[in-house]
Amino acid sequence: MCTPRPLELPLEQPPGWDEAVRLTEAADADPDPAVVDVRLEAKIATVMLDGRPTQMWTYDGVVPGPLIRARVGDTVIVRFTSSLPEPTTVHWHGVEVPAEMDGSEATQAAVPPGGSFEYRFTATKAGTFWYHPHVRSSAQVGFGLYGAIIVEDPAERAYGDDLVLVLSDVSTADAGVLAPGDQHGWFGDYFGREGGLLLVNGKRLPTVKARAGVPQRWKLVNASRARYWSLEVPNAEVLRIGGDVGLIETPQPGNGVVLTPGERAELWVKPLTPGRRSSVTAVDADRFHIGYPQPPEAVLELEVLDEPARHGAEAPSGTLREIVPPDAAAAKPRTFELMDLVDGGAGQLGINGKTYRPDEHIPVRLGDTERWEVHNSTAYDHSFHLHGYAFVPTNLAGRSWPVREWKDSINVPAKQRLELLVRFDDRPGMWMLHCHILDHVELGMMTMLQVRP
Ligand code: C2O
Ligand code: CU
Repeated sequence: MCTPRPLELPLEQPPGWDEAVRLTEAADADPDPAVVDVRLEAKIATVMLDGRPTQMWTYDGVVPGPLIRARVGDTVIVRFTSSLPEPTTVHWHGVEVPAEMDGSEATQAAVPPGGSFEYRFTATKAGTFWYHPHVRSSAQVGFGLYGAIIVEDPAERAYGDDLVLVLSDVSTADAGVLAPGDQHGWFGDYFGREGGLLLVNGKRLPTVKARAGVPQRWKLVNASRARYWSLEVPNAEVLRIGGDVGLIETPQPGNGVVLTPGERAELWVKPLTPGRRSSVTAVDADRFHIGYPQPPEAVLELEVLDEPARHGAEAPSGTLREIVPPDAAAAKPRTFELMDLVDGGAGQLGINGKTYRPDEHIPVRLGDTERWEVHNSTAYDHSFHLHGYAFVPTNLAGRSWPVREWKDSINVPAKQRLELLVRFDDRPGMWMLHCHILDHVELGMMTMLQVRP
């Protein structure tokens, strides 16, 4: 039997296309369109994890936490309360907030159980960002504390229908019970704790529907504490159009992009053959350079409807946005070495010969442009993250970075060197920089800048 084709095929996404992965959105209590005023409560709650009720640490009872949406220029107010059994903070990863709103242990006293804190900042740049605790972050993030914050630029052209996808993994000890945050002790810290359950927006293997020819804009956040994510999207044309902080200068190949913990990417995904269901897989990024990659694992189903769109969309090309990097000629050099350290017999990790110490910091002059060389002298990859300032990577492992873009989190492969340009244009204060394999923070791979006039 052959069903007659409708004369006019719709261009839109299929009904309910993103239902299975749609994030709870934070409710904005302020009618002023330029103010986003939300409440956020950290608390232990029972959530359905792979079909089982599981106690997790949550923001507002959901994992991931509620999606916060703002537009460039908006004032964002987050009235945070904690009902957790231990102190916590909220760090706005990638958002250029004033230092005292950064949520690190260097900028505020941690919020005690039953306590509260009001975060307030202006969303200055468009991009895909996220929030998470900065106290015992490996354990707290691993228990479920992470959420996305998306800043949109109304002047930007539409590339496709937005789909925010938070990638995470969870370790379960028994069915319905999370593994302890310090599972496997030192080995867990050193190698990084990867959970066996891979989640997309808190779900195991959910389905997204699509229509051939109708592009979707996937905004990916790697919220895992240690796992590197690399997605292969079959039966689709895939371009990377955005990075950590909004659009990149020109579209890049999008399949197989590696996201280190903390990193984001925006993918333009145009499904191709109608009537096909296929699996988006997570491919092992081999961050230990063992050479025996784990087999790919299906993490998301992509169901392309029978009916194609009437007009397929053209792939984005040319300049998506102009990116002017900080002036290299005016830059002062600085080097960082991510390294193994031995401290009293136990292996530690550090930066420039030291493990993290809350009473030490590196002075940086407000207004300066710097050229950083970040050398990873260890045998494994590390995820380099700077608070407060986005940078432009210029060279990695002896090759020019393929595109101009703003970043705040980036993989530095084993034994390799990263070069970047950063300008400390504003917002003096204490800013952390650390490996975003959060277990490595526990072993000391973190340091602090003090930016001052
Ligand atoms: Cu996403 Cu210092 O953190
Ligand atoms: Cu690391």
